Amino acid sequence: MTKKIAVLAGDGIGPEIVAEAVKVLNAFKQDGLAIELEYGLIGGAAYDETGSPLPDETLQMAKEADAILLGAVGGYKWEALDISVRPEKGLLGIRSQLNLFANLRPALLYPQLADASTLKPEVVSGLDLMIVRELTGGIYFGQPRGIRTLDNGEKEGYNTLVYRESEINRIGRVAFDIARKRQSRVCSVDKANVLECTELWRETMTTLSKDYADVELSHMYVDNAAMQLVRAPKQFDVMVTTNMFGDILSDCASMLTGSIGMLPSASLDENGKGMYEPIHGSAPDIAGQNIANPLATILSAAMMLRYTLDQPAFADRIEAAVSKVLDQGLRTADIFSAGMTRVTTAEMGDAVVAAL
Ligand code: IPM
Ligand code: MG
Repeated sequence: MTKKIAVLAGDGIGPEIVAEAVKVLNAFKQDGLAIELEYGLIGGAAYDETGSPLPDETLQMAKEADAILLGAVGGYKWEALDISVRPEKGLLGIRSQLNLFANLRPALLYPQLADASTLKPEVVSGLDLMIVRELTGGIYFGQPRGIRTLDNGEKEGYNTLVYRESEINRIGRVAFDIARKRQSRVCSVDKANVLECTELWRETMTTLSKDYADVELSHMYVDNAAMQLVRAPKQFDVMVTTNMFGDILSDCASMLTGSIGMLPSASLDENGKGMYEPIHGSAPDIAGQNIANPLATILSAAMMLRYTLDQPAFADRIEAAVSKVLDQGLRTADIFSAGMTRVTTAEMGDAVVAAL
């Protein structure tokens, strides 16, 4: 049966990088991949057109689709808007409306890029880490939230960090299940020494781990985890953490792989339906210049084939093709180093298609 993919390019470099991933997906049609792409608006582009960063039409399309491919949202142009209609709200809205609570962010170092990382090659070579970030709860969504004016006229901003046991258990299970297919080690990251909410997180993970006697569970405070990620990142197999800690640690982990332009992600619901997007943002400073790295988005399409469309052979082909173009010495600006061939966004996409 033909699978429907909702394509939401978004803002900034979004349309440029998504176009390259679409090239790659379309190239598989001749090999029998039955997919149909539909395009929708999200983020600032949607706000400009409709007054909402997540129009009903887009939400409906995303709900009906089998999978979603997303570029990025946000940009200087919309920074002064009220927070309720900012482009980021479109992304957060779709994550929460579709219950995409499990965000998988693999940080894999392609050996060809060991020199592109700002860290020493011996620290990062062989890196293969999976960050499992809770995506629909925590301080991103907790109530109450807002900015209020106190009696003395001073303004006060406030947000709420909140997690229920059920939310911790379901993200924990995802992490343990993934660890079983890897090195069977989970490191749960919290701030249990200060925040009650993550004290509960730690207790709940510990109780849950009894169902997974074959998986080794460890705990780490988030400040230490950030330090360990740059000191000795290969100690980690699977990291599981809250929405905000995962946001921060995954940006940090991305630099271990040479560039944030290399990291794909999957955001899954309970049934494996998913939205796939690069972890980087809309990079408005380089938008429209055809220099952004499309590999994170192309690798996100590979994750889509693997996790939602159940087409691991096509996913393997994309990952092998990415490795091949790196072998050929092709590099976008963010991963460029001396002796390599510098290519544009579109040239990188074409090269991956040729290497499939
Ligand atoms: C990410 C991004 C988003 C987040 C922003 C754009 C809302 O940084 O996907 O990591 O904070 O989750
Ligand atoms: Mg982020």
